[in-house]
Amino acid sequence: MKIAFFDTKPYDKQSFEKYASSDIVFKFYETKLNIDTAELARGCDAVCIFVNDTADAAVIDKLYNLGVRILALRCAGYNNVDVKYAYGKIHVVHVPAYSPYAVAEHTMAMLLTSIRRIHKAYIRTKDFNFSLSGLTGFDLYGKTVGVIGTGKIGRVFIDICRGFGMKVLAYDKFPADDAPCEYVELERLFAESDIISMHCPLTPETYHIIDEKSISKMKKGVVLLNTSRGALIDADALLDGIKSRKIGAACLDVYEEESDIFFEDFSGHIVDDDTLARLISMPNVIVTSHQAFLTEEALGNIAKTTIDNIKEIFENGGSQNELCYHCGKTANCKTQRLCKCF
Ligand code: NAI
Repeated sequence: MKIAFFDTKPYDKQSFEKYASSDIVFKFYETKLNIDTAELARGCDAVCIFVNDTADAAVIDKLYNLGVRILALRCAGYNNVDVKYAYGKIHVVHVPAYSPYAVAEHTMAMLLTSIRRIHKAYIRTKDFNFSLSGLTGFDLYGKTVGVIGTGKIGRVFIDICRGFGMKVLAYDKFPADDAPCEYVELERLFAESDIISMHCPLTPETYHIIDEKSISKMKKGVVLLNTSRGALIDADALLDGIKSRKIGAACLDVYEEESDIFFEDFSGHIVDDDTLARLISMPNVIVTSHQAFLTEEALGNIAKTTIDNIKEIFENGGSQNELCYHCGKTANCKTQRLCKCF
């Protein structure tokens, strides 16, 4: 079995290489998958991609014609794959859970860094500047956090927030019966939250769920956290909200136009994206480059599940983690037919 990896970084190679054998051969490419690079998968049975690769209809056709039959996402989100178009051509599998703790903990790390000005203090004390001016933060205890999306990551984040003594309001299109939070409509979540954190997938419904209109409904000084997908937030509306002082702070691990920028070293270069450059220049914006997943535990789980997924499809023609385009669920699909409701 030959697997072509796209958008590969050294840490990917490290976690996958231990699964290489005479039966499983890896071809690692640094380039992202798109219509121009798909040719590199010639002779491969499977293609393994990450969050910023493109698997639209044209790429799927190209891969199919090259003989590729498995598209394995080494991540949870799959908004970059036309899953519906792939049906009947290429099996699409993903890693539904590898460490919700990694992402939820990074979200809280960003929140604490921002509101306690740790990023500022770190630079000051490195320069032997021990002044406290401008470093006043606020307590999380007693504050209200609005969580959009109460799946695996959202639930861990809720638990962490409850540990801080925060009140949790939540919105989910499919509320869970046993979630430790009060479900409310989005309007109320926007109106009452001091902090809002996004943990839902990017879908046509959630695209720009944070836009000028929703920002206008929020409390002045609200802190926005996005460790989910960039396009949940209209970046220009966010920038306007920050400039008008409506938004108190933003912590972004993802960005709408991240695909050509994140994971690469642009130091010493001029970045063309004015919105990102302006956001980064703001004292109350913290950006990490899609790093929330990056823990040893998560990388190990991603590699193991991805290889298991590919083997399952290769050997049995189906996998628990095969994506269903209809409901987005896999193992718990109510109308399952080989774990697919189509
Ligand atoms: P999950 O599938 O366990 O939970 C997603 C939740 O969102 C579900 O409860 C679902 O009902 C809800 N949802 C679906 N449509 C919605 C809508 N229209 N409005 C509100 N809620 C809706 O997914 P998980 O594992 O918690 O991951 C959440 C997201 O985090 C992923 O979709 C992915 O985009 C992102 N992610 C980011 C990572 C990073 O490194 N920054 C790493 C892993 C995931």
